[in-house]
Amino acid sequence: MKVLVTGGLGYIGSHTCVELLQNNYEVIVIDNLSNSEVSVITRIEKITNKKITFYKGDLLNKFDIQQVFQQNEIDAVLHFAASKSVNESVKNPVKYYKNNISSMVNLLEVMEDFNVKKFIFSSSAAVYGSTTQQPISELVDTQAMNPYGQTKVIGEDFLNDLYISDNEWSIVVLRYFNPIGAHESGLLGEQPNGTPNNLMPLITQVASKKRRLLYVFGNDYNTTDGTGVRDYIHVVDLAKGHVSAVQKLLLTHGLHTYNLGTGEGYSVLEIINTFEKVNNVNIHYEIVDRRAGDPAVCFANPAKAKEELEWSAERTLEDMCRDSWQWEKALENNILPSRK
Ligand SMILES: NC(=O)c1ccc[n+]([C@@H]2O[C@H](COP(=O)([O-])OP(=O)(O)OC[C@H]3O[C@@H](n4cnc5c(N)ncnc54)[C@H](O)[C@@H]3O)[C@@H](O)[C@H]2O)c1
Repeated sequence: MKVLVTGGLGYIGSHTCVELLQNNYEVIVIDNLSNSEVSVITRIEKITNKKITFYKGDLLNKFDIQQVFQQNEIDAVLHFAASKSVNESVKNPVKYYKNNISSMVNLLEVMEDFNVKKFIFSSSAAVYGSTTQQPISELVDTQAMNPYGQTKVIGEDFLNDLYISDNEWSIVVLRYFNPIGAHESGLLGEQPNGTPNNLMPLITQVASKKRRLLYVFGNDYNTTDGTGVRDYIHVVDLAKGHVSAVQKLLLTHGLHTYNLGTGEGYSVLEIINTFEKVNNVNIHYEIVDRRAGDPAVCFANPAKAKEELEWSAERTLEDMCRDSWQWEKALENNILPSRK
């Protein structure tokens, strides 16, 4: 079974390539390296002892996609390639609508031309906006609060329309909660470009003294310790969820949407304390004002994925903190080949 992974050298895509290869899928990757580096291929191959076929190409260029389909008999596509910073999307919406929507139009158009109709879409809990219904089930209305989240809502609507037009399509939409952690091997992890937007890379950078201080936005929320609560999921668990989703795709038609989260919410202070304890380091932090638009609590009801995909997250918060720190130290010690 041959699968095309767009954005397969990025954070979640690279971990998913490992799981796919370990489950005997043939993996083809297209990535424009805008937020990743080519050395990730060697590291995926080192972990799995298997080869991937790589195309350096941009989904905004239809010819790049056509070439991949002309040269390979592809059974299914996992679509990770996108821009993913909420903050940047507010400052530069054109980039987000272009890279996240136009590239998806190109990809689905080429898939139609080549009669490949199995598709997995990387969506996000950002589609739920600031809903107060917790835990969040897939039935909660979508109401994105920023251009990034809006591109995911549009992507989902587009897939819905596509399926209505032609029900030979088999589509799985996966709404990720907060992926953190890194591969146990220490060879793969998140390599944020510039200032990270998410909590865990900020914590690891403070721990490694790349950054002086961690700002905690608000301690007056209605939560156990006043700091924001989120559903953090180990990236390897998330990657494994994709293998279950591919298996679902191959067995059924239809459009299915699943939350991929643990169903467990942890506060910012719980994350900091666990990180300190597991790794025996200190995280210097300061409480500052809330950030506009941040909900107090956001965590998944993952029951549907458990029932229909027979998948659930297995790794603990301790695993996430340990693996994130191991990865940061590998970056710090220059064990890995440098960026680009
Ligand atoms: N990381 C998260 O917290 C998170 C949460 C929810 C959803 N998601 C979604 O999951 C997907 C993967 O996220 P990630 O964290 O691995 O991001 P990432 O930036 O690490 O990976 C994305 C990859 O896609 C590539 N890419 C981007 N635009 C491209 C284009 N036009 N053509 C070809 N390649 C392109 C980048 O070079 C990169 O390797 C994205 O769609 C993102 O929106 C991520």
